[in-house]
Amino acid sequence: MKEQGDRRRVMIFDTTLRDGEQSPGASLTDREKLMIAKQLARLGVDVIEAGFPIASQGDFEAVKLIAENVKGPVICGLARANDADIDRCWEAVKNAYRPRIHTFIATSPIHREKKLKKSKEEILKLAVAAVKRARSYCDDVEFSPEDATRTEIDYLAEVLKAVIDAGATVVNIPDTVGYAEPGEFGNMIRELFERVPEMKEVTVSVHCHNDLGNAVANSLAAVKNGATQVECCINGIGERAGNASTEEVVMNLVTRKDYFNVEVGVNTKEIYRTSKMVSSLTGLEIPRNKAVVGENAFAHEAGIHQHGVLCSRETYEIMTPAMVGWSGESLVIGKHSGKHAITALLKEEGYTLTDEQINEITARVKELADKQKFVEKDDVIAIANDVIHRLSEKEQVIRLEEFIVATGNGFTPTASVKLSIEGETKMGVGTGVGSIDALSHAIQSVIDPSLRLVDFHIKAITGGTDALADVSIKLADKDGNIFSARAVNEDVVRASAMAMLKGANKALSFQRNEKGGER
Ligand code: KIV
Ligand code: ZN
Repeated sequence: MKEQGDRRRVMIFDTTLRDGEQSPGASLTDREKLMIAKQLARLGVDVIEAGFPIASQGDFEAVKLIAENVKGPVICGLARANDADIDRCWEAVKNAYRPRIHTFIATSPIHREKKLKKSKEEILKLAVAAVKRARSYCDDVEFSPEDATRTEIDYLAEVLKAVIDAGATVVNIPDTVGYAEPGEFGNMIRELFERVPEMKEVTVSVHCHNDLGNAVANSLAAVKNGATQVECCINGIGERAGNASTEEVVMNLVTRKDYFNVEVGVNTKEIYRTSKMVSSLTGLEIPRNKAVVGENAFAHEAGIHQHGVLCSRETYEIMTPAMVGWSGESLVIGKHSGKHAITALLKEEGYTLTDEQINEITARVKELADKQKFVEKDDVIAIANDVIHRLSEKEQVIRLEEFIVATGNGFTPTASVKLSIEGETKMGVGTGVGSIDALSHAIQSVIDPSLRLVDFHIKAITGGTDALADVSIKLADKDGNIFSARAVNEDVVRASAMAMLKGANKALSFQRNEKGGER
């Protein structure tokens, strides 16, 4: 159903688990992907692009898991325009209640000549053949001419007409490199509707990247000019500078319904929770000033603004925190709170946990409550993520036995560590500009020397010197593979050591699997 009353319905196609997961360093496990997909279903997106099944066995399994376990949205998989990709994609999505195959091939001259080395005619043929093959499996097939915004408009129109004739039910216009300007992109969509009247019979989608910061504005300009689907990612994550942010697109369409005159099916009250979950599972922080979900989005600092908001919120607030599900409440758990309160809180946040995980989280929350009196909701979530991300026994090849860090005025920060590597004790020492730098050097002196620490972030979960420290790191091996890890502890130095060792263990298991040919 595309129309509701006199309003056009715009589909929200969320690609956090596909394009979003292509964000440098944002790799997710199958279980994490499933949790996010379930939360996206609660948010009420129309389509979840769950992954790129041919990319790896892991991607295939994650898409299949989501297709088999997430009800509500269409579950879509990505495939290049060739038989092997399309067949693999269908295998992954076929058990979904509503499956979709999304196939693509680049159409712009630069991609045709430099990447594909194919003529316009060859690409057109491949596009049509891909759509036909996908339609032989599935009633819902999306086609994307990659780099559409740098494609000659006549050729683009010819391709779109041909794929619709071949059975595409959705045509997507990607601004793959984030090159378009809003006015220009809006005009392009309007012109395509004029040149290809068949587009009125299918869903017309847009997929905008944010290289020039225009992804949301371009998507909205397309909606204003007739697009009926927007592809986007939670928190605007994605390749390079990211994709259009789901929450910003949705809140524009909802807050300015008077301007866009369209309907969306999203439950905006789930936005904040979804954003937090994606940030904590991917490790990609939300900037404080990020529209809609940033910490400052509803904070009024200037006296004149505070006065206005106290008189009437509408003076400086165009949407309320409640509309995006930001309750503002923080104190939840005391040392007398039990397993039920913690289970209920985490369930509410979209977590599905085993009994064993719940017991461990409860024990750690109580331990923290003993020290801090109260534990905030974000602390509980951080502890839950820490427990979920725990490496299996088999993966813990390197274990931390002891460490000591010494620092002081006029003294070079120095650290020594005792690690057990497959039962063998190894000692390492290091100095640095600060205690964590020294610790990192001490650890690096023992583990694989080709592993480099390429990213390190510390965040205090809540305020105060006794706050939980959440450390996320990235290690790179000599082939450029990135291993992200995260650890939470009341002691910032311990959290740093744990995160670094987790990353080193991940790298080691990866290397072993590679050598053993398991991957
Ligand atoms: O950016 C892009 O062009 C894509 C396509 C696969 C739709 O992600
Ligand atoms: Zn993309």
